[in-house]
Amino acid sequence: TPLTPTVLVIFGAAGDLAWRKLVPALYCLSAEGWLPEKFAVIGVDRKEMAKEEYLRHLRTGVESFCRRKLDDASWTSFTSSLVQYHCGDLSHPDTFGVLAKAIEELRQQWGGVANPVFYLATAPSLIEPIAQGLGKVGLGKRVPGSRIVVEKPFGRDLASAQTLNRSLGEVFEEKQIFRIDHYLGKETVQNILALRFGNAWFEPIWDRRYIDYVQITVAETIGVEQRGGYYERAGALRDMVQNHLFQLLCTVAMEPPVSFDAEEVRNKKTDVLHAIRPFPTEAVHRLAVRGQYGAGWVRGERVPAYRNEPNVSPDSRVETFVALKVFVDNWRWQDVPFYLRTGKRMAQRISQIVISLRPVPHQAFPEIAVDQWHPNRMILNIQPQESILLNFQAKRPGPTIRLSPVDLRFSYRDAFKSETPEAYETLLRDVILGDGTLFMRADQVEAAWSLVDPILQVWESNPPTDFPNYSAGSWGPEAAQVLIARDGRSWFESPEDGE
Ligand code: BG6
Repeated sequence: TPLTPTVLVIFGAAGDLAWRKLVPALYCLSAEGWLPEKFAVIGVDRKEMAKEEYLRHLRTGVESFCRRKLDDASWTSFTSSLVQYHCGDLSHPDTFGVLAKAIEELRQQWGGVANPVFYLATAPSLIEPIAQGLGKVGLGKRVPGSRIVVEKPFGRDLASAQTLNRSLGEVFEEKQIFRIDHYLGKETVQNILALRFGNAWFEPIWDRRYIDYVQITVAETIGVEQRGGYYERAGALRDMVQNHLFQLLCTVAMEPPVSFDAEEVRNKKTDVLHAIRPFPTEAVHRLAVRGQYGAGWVRGERVPAYRNEPNVSPDSRVETFVALKVFVDNWRWQDVPFYLRTGKRMAQRISQIVISLRPVPHQAFPEIAVDQWHPNRMILNIQPQESILLNFQAKRPGPTIRLSPVDLRFSYRDAFKSETPEAYETLLRDVILGDGTLFMRADQVEAAWSLVDPILQVWESNPPTDFPNYSAGSWGPEAAQVLIARDGRSWFESPEDGE
């Protein structure tokens, strides 16, 4: 079925997100024939630029960040749909009048249909004024095909997220609001659903009877780069845990959905958030670890401490690393710990989920026969390797019985030999289709904030005294090792190559 004619309005069109992510993703979708036949992009930004200059700027972004090599024919065909670049104050009423007119003209050209999609690639402080502005010119609820896409950070605690949800809700129906968590657009994250619910192998053992614990690691080698200003108000708990890590956890822990209907999938994920055991104030120090990187070496390069990064206070107390021990209090997961960790300037760039099984009920092999005993594990590599490993014991060749761990390995690249789309390609196409499955609903965002709020409060009222407490290029502070070692376990060290 042909896709509905769509006008994509990008607020903050001259900014970094549009340049690095959105336009390269749109270019790929266009070159590969995934966009509606009638499609237009209207860029809006405060920055003064002629259309030609704007297109030249976008082209450099596509050349640097797109997984597809730019070819002139596809570029020309794509940019011919980039009808307009408006320079205007993003919250001034005139800007919205001009937009309404431009959309109306396209609607008429296209025979009466033009779904407007408003993508807010802007500072969070502009979300409310832009939504209000759109509402005032009748581009909100009154246009049923209209949609608004907002990026994180979605609030900075429960109260601010609720306020934001309320004010977006005055202008748009919940179904029209698409809150991006780009982790959900990653192929490997979606593949967790395929693995769990498209196969008979795994689901029967996917619970507390067989699974001993789960580890979720999202480690980055980069520091805060040029985002010190934003990061000083965020920190790793807000920047990564409240959204990406909790969403990974939900995907691993959710109950099987009845269908892949957007509400059904999101209901099942929300159930997990509701089942996560709240962090009582007095237990935060036992269940949550924070860290901040000092100077160090990352992949052979000397890098500065967080406190010496641009726009970071020299005595900053903001955390760049978090480790948590989480319990999901429901029938399936009672007492199975989920260990979560994320950090910047870590030893390796790797996002990985490790599912560790309980030991066999009875060890019939004599101890001497087992070379290297460790529990059976399933490892879901999300990035940069995209693979799934099943680790189990096998008999070593030879006249005596000796067991050693081996891997069964599935690699995306080898199995499918096709390129993996970027998360933003998937997500933009879903917005155009109006499919909210991979987007955060208001109640999910609020449930996630209500879990991290108590930790934020305890941390804010007890400023750290030991920052920086890990060196750039390490695996984080020692307290993170202690968090898991207390349970007689350790963080999984991946033999997979990171980046
Ligand atoms: C973003 C965070 O949401 O995710 C960044 O704001 C982080 O701080 C990024 O670097 C990580 O995303 P990815 O896709 O590179 O793992």
